[in-house]
Amino acid sequence: MSRVLFRGLTKVFDKDVTAVDHIDLEVPDREFFVLVGPSGCGKSTTLRLLAGLEEPTSGEIRIGERDVTHVEPKARDIAMVFQNYALYPHMTVHDNMAFALRLRRTPNSEIRDRVRETARTLGIEELLKRKPAALSGGQRQRVAVGRAIVRSPSVFLFDEPLSNLDAKLRVEMRAELARLHQRLETTVFYVTHDQVEAMTLGERIAVMKDGKLLQVADPLTLYNNPVSRFVAGFIGSPPMNFLEGRLERHPLRFVHPAFTMSLPSRFEGPLTAIGDGRMTLGVRPEDIALGEADGQPIRVTVEVAELMGNENILYLGLGKDSLIARVPPRFAPRPGENIEVRFDPGKLKFFHPETEQTLA
Ligand SMILES: Nc1ncnc2c1ncn2[C@@H]1O[C@H](COP(=O)(O)OP(=O)(O)OP(=O)(O)O)[C@@H](O)[C@H]1O
Ligand SMILES: [Mg+2]
Repeated sequence: MSRVLFRGLTKVFDKDVTAVDHIDLEVPDREFFVLVGPSGCGKSTTLRLLAGLEEPTSGEIRIGERDVTHVEPKARDIAMVFQNYALYPHMTVHDNMAFALRLRRTPNSEIRDRVRETARTLGIEELLKRKPAALSGGQRQRVAVGRAIVRSPSVFLFDEPLSNLDAKLRVEMRAELARLHQRLETTVFYVTHDQVEAMTLGERIAVMKDGKLLQVADPLTLYNNPVSRFVAGFIGSPPMNFLEGRLERHPLRFVHPAFTMSLPSRFEGPLTAIGDGRMTLGVRPEDIALGEADGQPIRVTVEVAELMGNENILYLGLGKDSLIARVPPRFAPRPGENIEVRFDPGKLKFFHPETEQTLA
């Protein structure tokens, strides 16, 4: 059993920088869990607390049934891969991977077997005699992962392990990590600021901001039912469009300086609570349609059209606002063209203009 549990976990640096702010979290055994959020939100600090590299200001950490809050790092049965996974440059790949096992006085024959087995898993068997300088970025990355898994820890901690790789290699390694997790059946606690990485790897994802967990959910729930404007805008690429306007009743409609849109009656209940009428509308790029789609036409001007082959990304001017739409490749308007778009009424989101919480 290697579930991870945080209770009220808090880390304050220098008396006033609250890097981690009363986090409560349970990650079940064998889950691939991803912590995602913008730079400086406290992801690495959370991971370092779990690893025992930082002492919490308050709160509790459990791994399995064991309270490890004050247990030293090497007794926590975890292995960590960092962004800057410095390999020992003077050692071969084999010795880099064997290092932690040697420290534990593992018998030589067992070290040999485990390094070989791990190298086979990662497809780096033929590299065992090389030194890190003679490896590509992706191969070094594999060795760093190998160094962690050779110890068979009960929890793996990854801190942005792919951010040094180029885009193509990152996609490959991402798939490899997912396969590796299926094979190893070990809890993974993975930190990234890249929401695509989070969505593709995480069985569950926590979105973090200013030291707090805003939402913990599976990828589709995060995408379809974000709790706030921040989560809605952070998850998804290109990001959700937000438009500030007013809500009118009888009939229920959203009034923007450049268009007015009648709203389905299902919004009546959830949107009644707001007093002054100001309202933020959210619509994802793929929920904006051209052509014969349903909905009410909204006139926009094409500013930029990125023709990708499989889809087109359109940057559209709407009065003083702009919108990003993702449309099928058969719609390829030219810059400067005035066109009509429609928002899928079933996919609209509404946010409180001040608290930024999701209303509907
Ligand atoms: N040792 C430290 N002393 C003082 N402040 C620190 C220390 N480590 C981190 N911080 C602060 O704590 C906050 C969270 O830092 P952390 O490294 O956890 O962010 P992060 O989410 O990992 O960001 P990034 O995506 O840039 O890696 C930041 O404001 C940072 O400046
Ligand atoms: Mg970090």
